[in-house]
Amino acid sequence: MRGSSPQTAKFGVPTVRHKITVVGAGNVGATLAQRLAERNDADIVLVDIVEGLPQGKALDMLQAGPIVGYDSLVTGTNGYEETAGSDVVLITSGVARKPGMSRDDLVMTNAKIVASVARQVAERSPQAVIVVVSNPLDAMAQVTLAATGFPRERVIGMAGVLDTARFRTFIAQELGASVVDVAAYVLGGHGDTMVPLVSLTTVAGVPVADLIPKERLDSIVQRARDGGAEIVALLKTGSAYYAPSAAAAQMTDAILLDTRQVFPCAVHLEGEYGIRGLYTGVPARLGAGGLIEVVQAPLEAADREALHRSAASVRQLVELMDSRRGDIDASLPPLGEGVSIG
Ligand code: NAI
Ligand code: 2OP
Repeated sequence: MRGSSPQTAKFGVPTVRHKITVVGAGNVGATLAQRLAERNDADIVLVDIVEGLPQGKALDMLQAGPIVGYDSLVTGTNGYEETAGSDVVLITSGVARKPGMSRDDLVMTNAKIVASVARQVAERSPQAVIVVVSNPLDAMAQVTLAATGFPRERVIGMAGVLDTARFRTFIAQELGASVVDVAAYVLGGHGDTMVPLVSLTTVAGVPVADLIPKERLDSIVQRARDGGAEIVALLKTGSAYYAPSAAAAQMTDAILLDTRQVFPCAVHLEGEYGIRGLYTGVPARLGAGGLIEVVQAPLEAADREALHRSAASVRQLVELMDSRRGDIDASLPPLGEGVSIG
């Protein structure tokens, strides 16, 4: 990914800095753009449909540069011309959950928004890696893959890093341990059926089941599953964005810097874990070009079944979208062809 084509930067000087587009200048998108700007290794284009919003936020971020110490050029726009030649595009546009709403309630509204955004970014950045954030996450990644025609390596969904971070936080709190010593994976779809893998969770190498009694661990697993809803209920308007933006930025680092780190990500599975034709959260190695490989973790039978149940709930959403595909985008190819689970 290093050595992107020259673009015009500050003072009209050509640059070989990376270029990242963030679509959606709301809570997640703006916080994400700020985190990425502060890394000082890419220029950022922030896009939103609301006039003045991305421009205002971008200008504000640009003016933080001299204080924080970054030269990242941050540009705000309501169009897509400025996004051309992006290395990574993060899609956060759409509506967020309100109290009482599930992520799935957002499906048709956000599918329409995401399909249109995905087409426009793909046209201008045909080699980009797209990281989808909009909810319901797995379904929106499925829409993005279909709308862009990109290979699966270049359309990845962010959710597992967030869900896992919540799980790690609660375990660390319970034990008074450092979060960095807690290693865990939450797989499956980003919804009520997500699958925290207790059997693969360790604290400084010690299995978590040896450290926390089962009943207590069960309630921590449930709190991680409900992690998004807990924040929605507290905020009353909008949903989480500090941890989600940190998660998306970490995935962006892996892609831009070719770190090859393994993260739980939503990937379009082609038979791995017994699932075909659907986005579901699995351990995935990320690097230059996006997905490098799906990592096959040894799953206990109960976890594999839970993963399949979670994939089945993603399939339901995909079937719903297929049944109303014309309302999303008349030219969208079928979303759920060839899907199989188990
Ligand atoms: P927000 O409402 O603060 O921001 C959304 C932005 O999208 C708004 O500024 C809106 O004007 C913009 N937008 C709407 N239609 C657009 C279009 N056609 N083109 C460009 N921009 C458009 O919402 P927030 O909190 O930033 O969340 C964004 C999305 O991310 C939601 O769908 C939310 O559910 C999802 N999310 C997903 C997470 C995950 O783990 N995958 C975690 C947190 C949020
Ligand atoms: C979250 O988990 C709303 O999906 C979002 O916080």
